[in-house]
Amino acid sequence: MDRLRLARGVIISGGPSSVYDKASPTIDPSVLTAGVPVLGICYGQQLIAHILGGTVRPGDKGEFGLAVLDVAEGDSALLHGVANGGQVWMSHRDIVSDPPPGFRTLATTFTCETAAIEDPERKLYGVQFHPEVVHTQDGARVLENFVIGICGCKKDWNATQRIDLIEKQIKQRAGERKVFFFVSGGVDSTVAFMLCLDALGSERVRGVYVDTGLMRDGETESIRRTLSGLGLVRIEDCQEEFLSALEHVRDPELKRHIIGELFVKIQERIIEERGLLSGRWMLGQGTIYPDTIESGGTARSATIKTHHNRVPGIQKLIEQGLVIEPLADFYKDEVRAIGRELGIGPELIDRHPFPGPGLGIRCLCADHDEPIHRVQDGYLIPIRSVGVQGDSRSYAPVFAIDSFPFEAARLQDEATELINRGVGANRVIARVATRNPLEHERVFSSTVTHGRLELLREADAIVREMSHESGFEKKVWQFPVVLIPLGSGESRDSIVLRPVQSIDGMTADSVTMPDELLHAMSARLMQIPEIAGVYYDLTHKPPGTIEWE
Ligand code: XMP
Repeated sequence: MDRLRLARGVIISGGPSSVYDKASPTIDPSVLTAGVPVLGICYGQQLIAHILGGTVRPGDKGEFGLAVLDVAEGDSALLHGVANGGQVWMSHRDIVSDPPPGFRTLATTFTCETAAIEDPERKLYGVQFHPEVVHTQDGARVLENFVIGICGCKKDWNATQRIDLIEKQIKQRAGERKVFFFVSGGVDSTVAFMLCLDALGSERVRGVYVDTGLMRDGETESIRRTLSGLGLVRIEDCQEEFLSALEHVRDPELKRHIIGELFVKIQERIIEERGLLSGRWMLGQGTIYPDTIESGGTARSATIKTHHNRVPGIQKLIEQGLVIEPLADFYKDEVRAIGRELGIGPELIDRHPFPGPGLGIRCLCADHDEPIHRVQDGYLIPIRSVGVQGDSRSYAPVFAIDSFPFEAARLQDEATELINRGVGANRVIARVATRNPLEHERVFSSTVTHGRLELLREADAIVREMSHESGFEKKVWQFPVVLIPLGSGESRDSIVLRPVQSIDGMTADSVTMPDELLHAMSARLMQIPEIAGVYYDLTHKPPGTIEWE
């Protein structure tokens, strides 16, 4: 309780436990009597009720997903300005059936009689729904009501103060030591690097950029021009190592695994070579808050990401207190704001997310030459593409629609319908342009080679340039460009365009691209002789994933 003496308020968060479990987390009851405002969310509300003599019981069937909020008491400070009938996100089984004495119910949902409760005298509040998720319509309003209205906090926070504070912490933590980074050219590691550079000066910050050969056009060059040009970052050319590790690999999951493992091996090799375990160095990392609490992508991407930042060599450094992660408390939008404030340009700060395994998972392979199969409404293409079924990943062929005229919006609905109908595919693409009619196309035996990566890099650079110049880039969350071994004659590969809209990458919608841009883009791509065709991915996530592997 002593630690809370200066607190303006307390939020007790949700969690998967039940208050009746012996091992469930709890609080010192004096937190509820200290006069400090307390807001309990989900489990937090149940805990308040349980401690103060209310009743918590297992819900009849639980409530998971969206619900409609029925606001009974609009005069409450907590729900001030919250719409009656607004959407809220619920995820609970237990429920507060009787609020503790002194509490009144502010809102209900169809299955929850205590969606929001309060005891304004004691400044205690609870909500069963989750105000912190984007799906709760007025969630931010509820949190603002609590923090500003009830706790009396002021909105006097700005990025400059934040940077001063972070840099002070970096100085304290580093002491006399130097800081070493693995930079990737991405937003997080660059911002973390620049913060350390600002705080400690250019004599005490160094890094290595591992060039896997799986980066996009211009990425390594940009590092060469900037950080490497200043003598701050060494470029470790590992292209051959990655290419030879992938030489005979065609299985998508094995490819991911090999790329991840090799990256880790190289990191550990560098840690050793650099004498980073000597105690004179600390390892700086661009780990951000969601990296530590959730995947930000698929369960598998979590493994790979966690892997990189928490491999045994790094774990050892963490245990010795030799790791510095200045962005560990921040979300991506805050990291971007800090980056802007530090003067990092928009070409880096506003970059779309790019997966760790890079172009390796966008360069698809096939075990052998194989014809495509004519089926009702289209063609089944024997290329393994990943989809999400529940929590697990599954690989299945791709369904191609021979579309003319091309009407993306209509086809996106058709795509979902096709997959639901069980056509044996995870993903539906539409033909935009091909050198030959679709029935003459076939799948070619292929692996990840230097030549195919170069081809993909060239196509990706065209797509990025055109979507940047047209402003389309700003309308999408991410725009993967995928190379598939589908073609005819001497042109043995095709390009798939995969623009998606998303909030956090967990779900995504296939986006419709303006006709004019699509046709101009496809015309430019078709000027590359090795490219046999251009396709458009119509699949939402779920049932597809954003990436193809
Ligand atoms: P999926 O394909 O699962 O991707 O729909 C969701 C988001 O995660 C990114 N992604 C990755 N990021 N390492 C990463 O750092 C990975 O292995 C990885 N796999 C997917 C993907 O680009 C999208 O933004």
